[in-house]
Amino acid sequence: MGQQKIIIALDGHSSCGKSTYAKLIAAELGYAYIDSGAMYRAVTLAAMDAGLFDDNAAPPPEKIEALLDHVELKLKHNPAKRRTELFLNDRMVEDLIRSMEVSAHVSYIAAISAVRRKMVEYQRMLGAEKGVVMDGRDIGTVVFPDAELKIFLTASLEVRAGRRYRELIEKGMAAEFADVQSNLEKRDHIDSNRDDSPLKQADDAILLDNSEMTLEQQMIWFNNLYRQVITAADDKD
Ligand code: DC
Repeated sequence: MGQQKIIIALDGHSSCGKSTYAKLIAAELGYAYIDSGAMYRAVTLAAMDAGLFDDNAAPPPEKIEALLDHVELKLKHNPAKRRTELFLNDRMVEDLIRSMEVSAHVSYIAAISAVRRKMVEYQRMLGAEKGVVMDGRDIGTVVFPDAELKIFLTASLEVRAGRRYRELIEKGMAAEFADVQSNLEKRDHIDSNRDDSPLKQADDAILLDNSEMTLEQQMIWFNNLYRQVITAADDKD
């Protein structure tokens, strides 16, 4: 039992611990972890580097679409750090893409259909062989609607803002709690209300609110669910 590889889609609100959870699940199953949000962040960074946000107004979508021809994303494994790192035009951008400035602009960029088309194409290619845990907003609804296991993760706004704030401070980045919370609120609003692939729970996704849960409890919950899904899939064969 449990021999066949599946796709695990982990969607949910900003900063509810999706990436930590997805990484743990991937490590436990020997799967690849793919952070789809990092890709939208990298396109945002490319737009910032190109000066498209310099006058603080949102750049027209056509400019972003034109920029996409000059955006090459690649994932490479770093054995020393035991992690997969995202490269934007051959520059490792894992840290740069987590800044508050990128966070402030990323929802705008992620709402542009041309950007989504390119990212989804890359994500589907990465999942073609299965055996992946991918986290994001539209993985279960759009990228892999046939994923065998879909989780929709959430937590209260206060809990999420607290976690993000601590994360930024621990990394030595400047942050105010109120700014972090209002950024999260804004992002959730834009992500949930955009026309193209809004953040929403897929009909067949299982909801998990982890506000009051430790990671260990979340893993117990996951292992139960995974066993059920794999047993059901094996029974079908
Ligand atoms: O997960 P994250 O906070 O790094 O994601 C950054 C932004 O990218 C988030 O505001 C929404 C967007 N995003 C998206 O639209 N679709 C995804 N699959 C992943 C992220």
